[in-house]
Amino acid sequence: MHRSIWLVLVLLVFSGSAKAQSSPSLKDAYQGCFRVGAALNSAQFTGQDQLEDAIIKTQFNSITPENVLKWGVIHPRPDSYDFTLADKYVQFGDQNQMFIIGHNLVWHSQTPKWVFEDANGKPLTRDVLLLRMRDHINTVVGRYKGRIKGWDVVNEALNEDGSLRQSPWLKIIGEDYIEQAFRFAHEADPEAQLYYNDYSLENEAKRKGALQLVKKLQENSVPLYGVGLQDHVSLDSPTTEQIDSTINEFGKLGLKVMITELDVDVLPWPAKEQIADVSLRAEADPKLNPYPNGLPEAVQRALAKRYADLFATYANHCGLVTRVTFWGVADKDSWKNDWPIKGRTNYPLLFDRQTKPKPAYDAVIHEASIRLPSATR
Ligand code: GLA
Repeated sequence: MHRSIWLVLVLLVFSGSAKAQSSPSLKDAYQGCFRVGAALNSAQFTGQDQLEDAIIKTQFNSITPENVLKWGVIHPRPDSYDFTLADKYVQFGDQNQMFIIGHNLVWHSQTPKWVFEDANGKPLTRDVLLLRMRDHINTVVGRYKGRIKGWDVVNEALNEDGSLRQSPWLKIIGEDYIEQAFRFAHEADPEAQLYYNDYSLENEAKRKGALQLVKKLQENSVPLYGVGLQDHVSLDSPTTEQIDSTINEFGKLGLKVMITELDVDVLPWPAKEQIADVSLRAEADPKLNPYPNGLPEAVQRALAKRYADLFATYANHCGLVTRVTFWGVADKDSWKNDWPIKGRTNYPLLFDRQTKPKPAYDAVIHEASIRLPSATR
């Protein structure tokens, strides 16, 4: 091949990563408005992926652990905690001066069965489960006191219709399990920001339920700092108007809002309702996996436009929205490749399968340049 053709090819390959390095990073572009974070898997914070490591350090100023602080990983058996990976996660955040998030303390999923049972496999009493919850929260939050700055204390306590999910927590302890969890977390680290985190809060019924829930917590002087909108969204749902008014509604209550698990699904949705329940599963079908060899140009453009609109919406609420965290860094590692159907090829994030910035990345950076006065950056 002719030398100049090689040169052009090499330039093309490197232009993507050079672009990410020469434009302001995500965290710098939104400096003064909100933090920009990413959820990390353990390969990323144990230095096994140098390429992603560099991206994470350059682009983000907050981190959330995908799994290592969840009950099943950190507290797998009644009398044994395993802090190996969680310690490394927190150390990574400290070394890189990042705002470290703890995710999560009380959830119905990824929590072992034993948590709710006595030694004979019988359901625990309210009092014993409360003691167990307190011990767990105290141990985990206490260990990282002052280092983990914000905790998703309760995750996904609501059903789609806004009622409380019939989780073992609710069934055994009763409605006040939520309040108790917040009190235990506050007791363990009075300085930490404490959040309620959920998906689809943009939908009217669920949002109403969440507003009711947080109002009740406030009336009972529960130390709630903010609400996490997960924002596992698709190209067209929820609308930015729905997101905007949801942020406003929680803001009116004096709460901060964080976008905690952002990604944009570009694949056909196999169910009736657009929800992010991790227990949802559907059958594989080639029709539902239309882009195994690359994203068509038009969809790439639609994704960039969707990301621009989302960031325009978030940036309308600088300071009320204090953080926007992506659920992952590059497309190849996203949970969206395997949920709700295993083995699909999805494109939900700003960095592609080679960890190069996509047009959606440029769109998010560009949005900051037009939305935010330079004084805030
Ligand atoms: C939920 C949880 C996250 C994660 C995602 C999918 O949104 O809050 O911890 O499990 O599902 O991976």
